[in-house]
Amino acid sequence: MSHDDFPTDDPAVVTCGLPYANGDLHIGHLRTYVGGDVYRRALERLGQETAFVSGSDMHGTPVAVNAEQEGVSPEEFALDWHERYAATFPKFNVEFDNYGHTHDETNTELTQELVRDLDEAGHLYEKEIMVAYDPVDDQYLPDRYVEGTCPYCGAHARGDECDEGCQRHLEPGEVEDPESTITGNPAEYRERTHKFFEVSAFAEYLSDFLDRLEGTSNARNQPREWIEQGLQDWCITRDMDWGVEYPGENPQDLVLYVWVDAPIEYIASTKQYSERVGAEAFDWEAAWKEGASDAHPEGGEIVHVIGRDIIQHHTIFWPAMLEATGHAEPRAVMASGFVTLGGKGFSTSRDRAVWADEYLDEGFHPDPLRYYLATNGGFQQDVDFSWEKFRDRVNTELVGTVGNFLYRSLLFAHRNYDDAPISDATSEEVDERIEEAIADFEAAVNDYSVRAVGDAVTDLARFGNEYIQRSEPWNLVDDDPEEAEQVIHDCVAIAKAIAVLFEPIAPEKAERLWDQLGEDGSVHEATVEAAREGPDGDLAEPTELFEQIEDERVEALNEKLEARVADAEADGESSEDGGESGENGDESDDTEDTADDTDTDTDDMTDIEPLSDDRISFDDFQELDIRIGRIEEAEGIEGADDLLKLGVDLGAETRTIVAGLKQLHDVDELPGTKVVVLANMEKAELFGVESNGMVLAAGEEADLLTTYEDAGPGTKVK
Ligand code: MSP
Ligand code: ZN
Repeated sequence: MSHDDFPTDDPAVVTCGLPYANGDLHIGHLRTYVGGDVYRRALERLGQETAFVSGSDMHGTPVAVNAEQEGVSPEEFALDWHERYAATFPKFNVEFDNYGHTHDETNTELTQELVRDLDEAGHLYEKEIMVAYDPVDDQYLPDRYVEGTCPYCGAHARGDECDEGCQRHLEPGEVEDPESTITGNPAEYRERTHKFFEVSAFAEYLSDFLDRLEGTSNARNQPREWIEQGLQDWCITRDMDWGVEYPGENPQDLVLYVWVDAPIEYIASTKQYSERVGAEAFDWEAAWKEGASDAHPEGGEIVHVIGRDIIQHHTIFWPAMLEATGHAEPRAVMASGFVTLGGKGFSTSRDRAVWADEYLDEGFHPDPLRYYLATNGGFQQDVDFSWEKFRDRVNTELVGTVGNFLYRSLLFAHRNYDDAPISDATSEEVDERIEEAIADFEAAVNDYSVRAVGDAVTDLARFGNEYIQRSEPWNLVDDDPEEAEQVIHDCVAIAKAIAVLFEPIAPEKAERLWDQLGEDGSVHEATVEAAREGPDGDLAEPTELFEQIEDERVEALNEKLEARVADAEADGESSEDGGESGENGDESDDTEDTADDTDTDTDDMTDIEPLSDDRISFDDFQELDIRIGRIEEAEGIEGADDLLKLGVDLGAETRTIVAGLKQLHDVDELPGTKVVVLANMEKAELFGVESNGMVLAAGEEADLLTTYEDAGPGTKVK
């Protein structure tokens, strides 16, 4: 079964991975929320009925441990963070239709109901496991409540993962010499009876599900490997007080594991939205339940937007839970790459991050950050944040391309046509170009590419600049006023299309543009139809939409950030894990599951080849002609499962290079990516295609080498 293109007649639900109610949000988190918000708005511009929901993730041991350390109840602690998040998202123009939390009544009830259904359907069973216990404090110590020694590498480890050593996921009972994180007391192991969900029974279903699943390719490829390695059943209960109580017979007073009730909040939050607006406006059951509505027998279009660290939960455990209980299955999972600093992960506890509040406190408008996060690299690529790169994108694209086109055309129109509506039809050339932009936008939505949503607009603005430049309306005003009016009409039509198509990425700026265009109503209600209609408002005096970021500003911001990173480094000692590793556990996924190798960086670390002692001379190195390239095109090769034929711009020429990237990267996201190329590699013929060079990549997942500054195609690496 393949899915119909968006827009469809089914209600869509776009969700964002719930933030742990456990500490400040940073711009890494924002990639999930901005990504989700852009995608939702883009769907609505296409006319798709959509609910956009999320909520705070209140449970789990990291929250409980942090609350205890602060001397407050977990509920008070988590609610406080919940309220802060609810206030922060709108400041970034992330407008959820409903933002709930996992501890509220709706979610508690739905979770218990769903677990009862799982049990009644015979998918749960009991098993004895060893759980750490603090005999002095009389407390069981699940997950982050316990620390000890890693049985694999001997490093100091958390109860659920070897965070400072080999990065392995640790099952309950595995950590050696256990101690309580809270009291420091030595712990002992006690046998306890826990509930397990038979995920392994769903291997075949999941494998088919992945064939249907849309979104980013990482969300299909990684889980396929896990299934191949064999799925393990999943312990869904914990010995603690903070959480949703296990429903039914529960002599040990167990609560459900945080990852059980967390995704159910997607449903609960949609339900709350329906209850607020009425089922006629949005029917949560039609969206989430199979067979609940005759009009939508398979449920709605569920799209999950998350970061790549939680793919396993969204493509294995969650769809298995949904399938087992008669719910609709997700249509797509969009898993973003991480935002990093200097190539390394953010760390909340070490203050190695750019904070969401900090960005706003600096006086920046939210929309440029949205643009940067949405368009800097493909969605599944990691993005290394730097203020310089942020400045460059803002100054060249937002100010230089989009802002410049809008300001010069609208100012010219306003000055010369005295507010009169310019009502002639749009010229054929411009009409077609606007149609092309709408088609690009629609394709971007169906490709789940938020970057391409942005590109559709910058490309159109680029055309606009070129059109006005070549048509020179300022020279036509006197000699050929009719032609001048046509050109200006066309430019205002382009501006209107930009307002509609840019709404997902820069909602507030797009609304301001809408007002400048004198259009009725709100751009937030407009669809691509409006972009086709041409302008019909009275133009207001335009103001510049985007502000240039000055170099001195960037220098000051950099200094601040560098000092912070240096402090964090001094703090961090040995734990350079390349991924997220907050000491408080607020960054980690707190899993209690099977193969926890979602993070490919850490995966490679367990298995490092020894460094070679075979030295080469500098002259030998000089023989390698290593260059920066930019991928222009990427396509499959007939008969080859893994290979891609790339067109790579090397400055002087564009080369055809064959690379084994097909299974590991989203082919559509590759164009535009900067890569490092061994240009004087011997030519080779692969599947009938001559490969002229070699693209360099690291590790099993072919992590592509790139540059972090502005070295362009052809630059030599030395
Ligand atoms: N509570 C879980 C998700 C439960 S979903 C049913 C969680 N919370 S989190 O606070 O750690 O992360 C919230 C979102 O931010 C997730 O989508 C996560 O992948 C994303 N990110 C957290 N740090 C990130 C970066 N540094 N970069 C990109 N995304 C990151 O996971
Ligand atoms: Zn270890």
